[in-house]
Amino acid sequence: MLKGRVAIITGAGRGIGQATADLFSRQGASVVVCDIDSTPCQDTVTSILEQGGMAVPCVGDVLEDGFAQKAIDTAVKAFESGVDIIVNNAGYGGKGFVDETSDSFWGNMLDINTTAPFRLIRAVTPLMKQSAKSELEAGKTPVCRKIINVSSIAGTDGLVASAAYATSKAAIEGLTRSVAKDLGHFNICVNAVSFGLIKTRLSRPIEANKVEHVGEKVMGFPAKFLNHMVGLTPLGRVGTVEEAAGAILMLASPYADFITGQVLKVSGGL
Ligand SMILES: NC(=O)c1ccc[n+]([C@@H]2O[C@H](COP(=O)([O-])OP(=O)(O)OC[C@H]3O[C@@H](n4cnc5c(N)ncnc54)[C@H](O)[C@@H]3O)[C@@H](O)[C@H]2O)c1
Repeated sequence: MLKGRVAIITGAGRGIGQATADLFSRQGASVVVCDIDSTPCQDTVTSILEQGGMAVPCVGDVLEDGFAQKAIDTAVKAFESGVDIIVNNAGYGGKGFVDETSDSFWGNMLDINTTAPFRLIRAVTPLMKQSAKSELEAGKTPVCRKIINVSSIAGTDGLVASAAYATSKAAIEGLTRSVAKDLGHFNICVNAVSFGLIKTRLSRPIEANKVEHVGEKVMGFPAKFLNHMVGLTPLGRVGTVEEAAGAILMLASPYADFITGQVLKVSGGL
């Protein structure tokens, strides 16, 4: 479904991003695998290459100045082509009631979940527009290029003790809807996927109230909270990373070429 397409996927060293890189590659895409952690980033690339796919690593923090251009330059250099698909996936959550939320944590959430995706979209837009213009000048219909942003049901519906995370994910949904209106003319579709609980290190159960932090990053949920959320989920379970990647592929595929400005909930009905 993605034969000949070039995709940049952030946070592709683990979890949903890793599964998406793998699936995109198996569907024919050449993938720029971006992650802040070099070992999982390289592992994703190695696995794709061993399966006969095309991938190149781009190690770095999506918040670094110049990261967006670095990812784009990596794609252009490695695959001698433009960029057809962006998946803004790198991110993490954090819990805390509104009166416990520090300015720095509020800022961190907006930076990683909203500002970094905005910067990558802003940087890739001239290249995607130019590709569309060249195709039009050659008398062809422009390729339907795709931008897919990863949101959360916290952003779509709100979530207890998650004001900063939920706000940052609600903001990416607003960005998605507006940019879809900016770029539709160039046959660029912009959508978001709003995930419920997907089984990754972010959603793994942790003993009662012993939430593991890496800096201010939260790497799991209290088991009690997780069980409560699963209980509220009509399908009665967490999703797999393969199911999450499948939804992203669906939006990236030609079957979704008339879908733009939408937020698709992939949450088992939650
Ligand atoms: N797992 C869930 O239940 C769930 C639910 C809703 C939304 N999400 C969203 O899905 C996305 C992926 O989460 P996941 O569950 O796969 O997490 P994960 O921790 O398994 O994977 C995220 C990857 O992003 C990378 N990353 C983090 N910060 C980065 C940075 N500054 N620069 C570059 N790379 C960075 C990490 O190193 C990691 O490899 C996030 O945006 C998250 O908010 C996850």
